Amino acid sequence: MVQAPKGTKDCLPQDSYKFQYIESLMRKHAALAGYREVRTPVFEHTELFLRGVGDTTDIVQKEMYTFTDKGGRSITLKPEGTAGAVRALIEGKLYSQAQPVKMYYINNPIFRYENPQHGRLREHHQFGMECFGAKEPSADAELISTLLRLLAELGLDDLTVNINSIGCPKCRPVYHQKLREYLAGRMDQLCDNCRERFDRNPLRVLDCKEPGCKRVVKGAPIILDSLCEECADHFEGLKRLLDAAHVSYQVDPFIVRGLDYYTKTVFEIIMHGQREGLALCGGGRYDGLVEQLDGPALPAVGFGLGIERVLLELETRGIAMPEPAQYQVFAANIAPQDFEDAFRLVLALRDAGIRADCDHTGRNLRAQFKYANKLGIRVMAIVGGEEKERGNVRLRDMQSGQESEIPAQDARDNIEKMLRG
Ligand code: HAM
Repeated sequence: MVQAPKGTKDCLPQDSYKFQYIESLMRKHAALAGYREVRTPVFEHTELFLRGVGDTTDIVQKEMYTFTDKGGRSITLKPEGTAGAVRALIEGKLYSQAQPVKMYYINNPIFRYENPQHGRLREHHQFGMECFGAKEPSADAELISTLLRLLAELGLDDLTVNINSIGCPKCRPVYHQKLREYLAGRMDQLCDNCRERFDRNPLRVLDCKEPGCKRVVKGAPIILDSLCEECADHFEGLKRLLDAAHVSYQVDPFIVRGLDYYTKTVFEIIMHGQREGLALCGGGRYDGLVEQLDGPALPAVGFGLGIERVLLELETRGIAMPEPAQYQVFAANIAPQDFEDAFRLVLALRDAGIRADCDHTGRNLRAQFKYANKLGIRVMAIVGGEEKERGNVRLRDMQSGQESEIPAQDARDNIEKMLRG
């Protein structure tokens, strides 16, 4: 049998309500803050990610699904959502609209050739919010507080957001220099990867999970001490607003994030109870990216939240999501010749917005009852027999077991009443 590719996951019909529930709250909170949906293609020209995400990142170096299409173009399946959103903003000239321009994406499939394990997939889906044209820290604070409100409504109300500032192209080189000076004397304690990172992107050493590197990093100078005035003021402004909004946050000077486009604010929320401290969400400001991708100079900030990880976190904590019944009503036919009446009743119920069905598999009445019980049907309408001769149908409340015989033309109204009661 052909199996699903490693690192991918089906969402089966019996589980889709969970995703729909999570997504409905995502849409609700995004809309409350004025964010509107953007949909971009699943694949883009590879160049977008080389220039946007950064060619020293693990994502670009090791994890992209890249192929040449039949026209000889290099194409890549989206390894993250921001670069595509920025490209759409530039191509759609949204920068000429009133700012800020706020957009979100949902159920956005993201592909990374990672080593699949618990919580780490090769195809996952992200909900992301991106805000363009606002340089003030209030845009960052709005995103973070929207994110936490969304998670709280899902039942994850004890999460803390870790924040940091990684400066801007003015002040970061100064920090790089200090960090290199510190690391230079400790190269023998760093892993091979980090020795390579030393020249190209020393910040990434701060993020390394190797025990030796972690030990070295503990005593490293922190970037918050090297911020220029503008970046320091921005970070102070963000903290003030988060305090004002009673957002639970912690400053973590070692957050650097795995993508190259960030400036100033970066933030992450870590999942509870996961062995490796997997991130539930990550984001930050990327004031240079729009210009870097040939758009105008436009500040921007956003985040991406992994939908499968949200689900995993909810399931780990035993938080149930409201499961809608597949059907509320089942119209059973006593004999085969009664099927048409049952079928017509079902269609009339559906017209009234009631989830209803009848038997499509030729079961006898007993088996239809068994089936309806299994599905947790609320009301059975039994069509046929003597009742039919009298122009009636029999209704059974499956919870109380109470039955009543009513005129067939009143069936729909009666069922509506029973469902309301
Ligand atoms: P990211 O931190 O690479 O950021 O990914 C965002 C979230 O996607 C993670 O926090 C995690 O929940 C989920 N995620 C990432 N990789 C996997 C995986 N292999 N399996 C399951 N879930 C995963 C970004 O992608 C940025 N574009 C976020 C952003 C938006 N920054 C600014 N705007």
